[in-house]
Amino acid sequence: MTDAILRATGLSRTFQMGERNVIGIRGVDLEIARGEFVAIRGPSGSGKTTLLTILGCLDRPNEGQLMIDGTDVTALPESALARIRSDKIGFVFQSFNLMPFLNARENVELPMELTSMTAQERTQRAKELLKLVGLADREDHRPSRLSAGEQQRVSIARALANRPPLLLADEPTGNLDSKNKVEIVRLIRRLSAEQNMTSVMVTHDNRVASQAGRVIFIKDGQVRSNKNRVPVKDMVEEEGLD
Ligand SMILES: Nc1ncnc2c1ncn2[C@@H]1O[C@H](COP(=O)(O)OP(=O)(O)OP(=O)(O)O)[C@@H](O)[C@H]1O
Ligand SMILES: [Mg+2]
Repeated sequence: MTDAILRATGLSRTFQMGERNVIGIRGVDLEIARGEFVAIRGPSGSGKTTLLTILGCLDRPNEGQLMIDGTDVTALPESALARIRSDKIGFVFQSFNLMPFLNARENVELPMELTSMTAQERTQRAKELLKLVGLADREDHRPSRLSAGEQQRVSIARALANRPPLLLADEPTGNLDSKNKVEIVRLIRRLSAEQNMTSVMVTHDNRVASQAGRVIFIKDGQVRSNKNRVPVKDMVEEEGLD
């Protein structure tokens, strides 16, 4: 494959816990093409979060190499990694991680404060993003005045703020009921296609994973299977899930 947005070679991460070494991931080789929507599945403790955290440049591997959008990030200094994170990567977490004292629009504006955009441009874009995720009428609500599904929509809008080519989501549907699970994963899928974004999502949920174009299964820190590769724009919308 030529147009890889992510290419990991022999990634390992071990955690030192006193006398013991705990293996997070070991020898992970992975290539993800631009425009894919990939799900990562695996048992609890298998290394999914460890892998996603490294792919998102929030942690570093002990061994191996990671290329993101053509840049070898493995040995970059922290300041350069921070730049990659803000320019290239949008993050979505299970627990939403919204600022409780800011309303929906202000939460979405936050990542844009590190850019050269004016306050007016930031507000304008935040409003557009909230519209994109179906929350145009909720911009003044603080997180506590939003449902769980709505909070996750805000966090997705926030993740898209700087037009990242890559969206990383760790159990984005983990705190949602089954109707919202399906809606959120479909939203991620739709946005990936519309915004020409690559999405990588960790999930425990079979139905959620079935929406992805490829499922990577990891166990004991290693990739065990890596099936189907379909660009998200070529995927047929599946109906009747809920
Ligand atoms: N910061 C850390 N310090 C020490 N050990 C860690 C750390 N982070 C993860 N681990 C260990 O690495 C292994 C993989 O953990 P990880 O969080 O990646 O699993 P996971 O697949 O995301 O699990 P879950 O489905 O429960 O979220 C586990 O054995 C865990 O205890
Ligand atoms: Mg995890």
